[in-house]
Amino acid sequence: MTNTVQSENRARFDTIAAQWDESPMRTNMARAIADAIATAVPLASHWRALEYGCGTGLVGLRLLPHLAHLLETDLSPGMLTVLAEKAQAAGLANISTAVLDLTTSPPPDGQFDLIFSSMALHHITDVAGIVRTFFSMLVPGGWVALADLDAEDGTFHSPDVPGVEHHGFDRKTVEGWLRAAGFADVSTRTAYTVERERDGKQRRYPIFLATGRRP
Ligand SMILES: C[S@@+](CC[C@H](N)C(=O)[O-])C[C@H]1O[C@@H](n2cnc3c(N)ncnc32)[C@H](O)[C@@H]1O
Repeated sequence: MTNTVQSENRARFDTIAAQWDESPMRTNMARAIADAIATAVPLASHWRALEYGCGTGLVGLRLLPHLAHLLETDLSPGMLTVLAEKAQAAGLANISTAVLDLTTSPPPDGQFDLIFSSMALHHITDVAGIVRTFFSMLVPGGWVALADLDAEDGTFHSPDVPGVEHHGFDRKTVEGWLRAAGFADVSTRTAYTVERERDGKQRRYPIFLATGRRP
């Protein structure tokens, strides 16, 4: 069963998929988040990874050279089509895509060494629940790496953008969700700061990266 939030997000991201990569803000942010993950997590070339809410793969494609295989997953078939076209054009063999909504469907088969996500959590109502699901999908010793907005006043998105469930997150709350799910070595740091004009003022929106390891 798909609820309204997911329907809104699927429709919105399907519609904007073809233009997603045209934004320098998005590509700069993705580069910084990928670099932050590569710095915080001891990536290994035998690892099997899953990206959740991957969009067009702006983060995943940067981490792919450090991994054995990457399963790119998203609610939006339109975003995944753009990603699959880029992967095919580049001749990439160690990447696959799948429509996946863990809020309504069970996890895919297999266990992962790394699960990462960039700017998808604020679209998901029960983030603590999805963190518990990520934990269950990891091998012992596997890592989670989650990037999203710090708590903000609701001005990051335009008021007419549907499907936004959280105006960012308090880092200590996210760390608490990771620890409650069973993760060890939990920490957060700033991965990037988005600067955009709102109401005639230049505003700063920091993006955190939270990481943890399944014992
Ligand atoms: C802001 S975009 C970020 C895309 C990409 N991670 C990036 O950094 O460029 C959020 C993505 O999360 C996906 N998404 C939203 N809700 C989701 C859900 N319940 N399950 C999986 N993906 C979801 C959207 O389809 C969209 O591709």
